[in-house]
Amino acid sequence: MTGFAFPDGFVWGTATAAHQVEGGNWNNDWWDWEHNPDSGCVEPSGDTCDHYHRYRDDLDLMAELGFNAYRFSLEWSRIEPEEGEWSTAALEHYRRVCAACHERSMTPIVTFHHFSSPRWVAASGGWLEPATVDRFARFVERSAAHLGDLIGWACTINEPNIVSLMGHLAGVFPPGHRRSDERRQVNQNFIAAHRKAAEAIHAAPGTAPVGLTLAMSDYQAVEGGENYLHRIRSAHEDVFLEAVRGDDFIGVQTYSRSRIGPEGAVGPEEGVEVTTMGYEFWPEALEPTIRRAYELSGGVPVLVTENGIATPDDTRRVEYVRRALAGVRSCLADGIDVRGYVYWSSFDNFEWALGYGPEFGLVAVDRASFERRPKPSARWLGSVARANALEFQP
Ligand code: BGC
Repeated sequence: MTGFAFPDGFVWGTATAAHQVEGGNWNNDWWDWEHNPDSGCVEPSGDTCDHYHRYRDDLDLMAELGFNAYRFSLEWSRIEPEEGEWSTAALEHYRRVCAACHERSMTPIVTFHHFSSPRWVAASGGWLEPATVDRFARFVERSAAHLGDLIGWACTINEPNIVSLMGHLAGVFPPGHRRSDERRQVNQNFIAAHRKAAEAIHAAPGTAPVGLTLAMSDYQAVEGGENYLHRIRSAHEDVFLEAVRGDDFIGVQTYSRSRIGPEGAVGPEEGVEVTTMGYEFWPEALEPTIRRAYELSGGVPVLVTENGIATPDDTRRVEYVRRALAGVRSCLADGIDVRGYVYWSSFDNFEWALGYGPEFGLVAVDRASFERRPKPSARWLGSVARANALEFQP
């Protein structure tokens, strides 16, 4: 075995998103969608992990495990439940969450938009509507004014490319459209919203680096799929990577590879290991996506804001993360500026349209008692974080 020490100050975190863990977020478009019998959602989110009330214990646990950062998102529908009506109580809640991170020596990584939007935003056109850009900018301005001094890293928008793909082309996220002509407009609105949000956060108190987080895949062409691959990758990823040049960081979020043939995605090869999500077990995807994000963004520092696996077999989680981290190591060895690694997810939680089936968590949560049970992978990754080092087979 040989050891590899990560750079001093390397960020080691775990991540959640408001709608997936807080519980009771009834005033957003996702709640509506979960309760729409035609949406294809397998179950509603309900109380999920009741993290809204249990965040202190949850942060105790994450700190005890060894992590030095915690990524979570603000729920816009709590902070601005109706247009122009602001909830100081909700902003104070998130201020307490940030403060609780600092009290435990964890850096708060705050996401301003993670998939869910208030009902009133959805009712007035959602992300297809250009006016949403300014609505979002106002929300960010207000929130950053209240919380900015406590934010460690600011993620403006989580995976805008997934919202436009799943919500406007595949029809499985709200608003459930299947319209290829909408995707480009939605992406443009997100990019404009990101720019305005970044400006607002920079103008607010605090010095947090600001970036966008992007869903990426290790695209591989099979049997002449090069042209198709190029087309989908540029619409899904490159348009954003080019737009974030000059930002403080780019959040890379990678789960697997995508094999692309001349007619589109061909899926995993027969007989290979797949995760509960149906993705190929391919931890090697992280390295090429970090490299690509760094290159296309013109050398913007990379924070791995999500990487993880849905599996009931926790030993496969350890293997997955170990191999993904080997990829991070090789990027660092080549001088790529990778600032940290954040595992998705802290807890087994509400996996959007797929409900509570997929288990991404380092910590299991009993659905009836809310009891938290750390898995062996939580202890393992926490000890890597604490040591800031990992042992590798030579
Ligand atoms: C999202 C998370 C989601 C995870 C696993 C990312 O696309 O940001 O909200 O749970 O992947 O599917």
